[in-house]
Amino acid sequence: NPLDFSGVWRFRDLLNFCPDDCKVTVGEGQTILQRNDALAKDLGIDAGCLHLEYEGLNPSGSFKDNGMTAAFSHARLVGATASACASTGNTSASMALYAHSTGMSCTVFIGSGRIAYGKLSQAMDYGAHTLQIAGDFDDCMRQVQAVCAQLGIYLVNSLNPFRLEGQKTIMFRILEQLGWQVPDWIIVPGGNLGNSSSFGKAFAELKQLGLIDRVPRLAIINAEGANTLTHLYNDRNLRWNDGRPDADLVQEFYDDLTARKYSPRTVASAIEISRPVNLTKCLRALDICDGVVISVPDEEIIDAKAQIGLRGLGCEPASAATIAGLKHLLADGVVDPSAKIACVLTGHPLKDPNLTVNYHKDNKGKFSNPPVEVPNDLNAIIKAMKQA
Ligand code: F0G
Repeated sequence: NPLDFSGVWRFRDLLNFCPDDCKVTVGEGQTILQRNDALAKDLGIDAGCLHLEYEGLNPSGSFKDNGMTAAFSHARLVGATASACASTGNTSASMALYAHSTGMSCTVFIGSGRIAYGKLSQAMDYGAHTLQIAGDFDDCMRQVQAVCAQLGIYLVNSLNPFRLEGQKTIMFRILEQLGWQVPDWIIVPGGNLGNSSSFGKAFAELKQLGLIDRVPRLAIINAEGANTLTHLYNDRNLRWNDGRPDADLVQEFYDDLTARKYSPRTVASAIEISRPVNLTKCLRALDICDGVVISVPDEEIIDAKAQIGLRGLGCEPASAATIAGLKHLLADGVVDPSAKIACVLTGHPLKDPNLTVNYHKDNKGKFSNPPVEVPNDLNAIIKAMKQA
């Protein structure tokens, strides 16, 4: 049964919302959790304590496939024929892959100039209809909701609760690969806050089912240029409050963003979001997992990305916010160097090749480690090898 080879659907007993014949799979969720002692050593963490969950190994190159397989299975269940999303890139690549696999049409709303090329090229390959809106992700998110409501189109952003159901399996796989030993910390980048929301739900449910005896702590890392959650949680003390977070406080903050014509900016374009649609659900996850939230500057994100590439399999910029954030949490004594830590690396390094190439150039545009020109001649190649 192909469902047994899906890293999402082999947990289908815990995702019981549609019959097997509706389920659509492209082999998502076959990811690995890497114990990375080299990076642990760099960070001053004890050997055996740092684990990296490589979600970039999914078919479309990001964690989104975990949620998209669930959303498209539900879309088939309800007979939808057209899908749409707003995206900073990965949602669109994943949606287009699943739409193409199920024969549904799909439309992507992207902010003008706000998407990494690797991601846009995937949506093109899978045949998505792409609308480039003169605005940012938050504008696209608002517009796509209105369009889907008016035209009866199936919305696959993480507002869609089935997306979050599928994304719970990222945590199931981490636990599985740790022999169902609960880590002390889960560290995840925060954008639209779907992952963090689904992780909290996963742990609450597993505990209720008696499959785990405690929940890990959750650290959500924002980019400094898109730090709504950090501001509301740390500076304004916004809390879940039994499902009634202070709506006036949130509205006041968003009104202020509007008044200032504020638009978020970060090199981690995947998380360049200032009005996260899962804010309330995320507050619940922070409550369940005794969570913390911090923001990291772009330079630290880019450096952490290079470090993960040097020490591991690499990831895209937004994913590297986890390691950039972890450095602060260690320095501030929030995370202990002997704690068991799992960082979720949400996207593949090839998603944003421009940023990587530019990182390896100096300010005059010269590569620090340039390709060496060699004639097509064995002796010349051997000479160059010896010089290296
Ligand atoms: N990491 C990557 C690589 C992402 O693409 C995203 C979100 C996030 C982290 C943030 O995850 O929303 O669950 O907090 N990308 C969306 C997109 C917004 O359109 O591809 P979140």
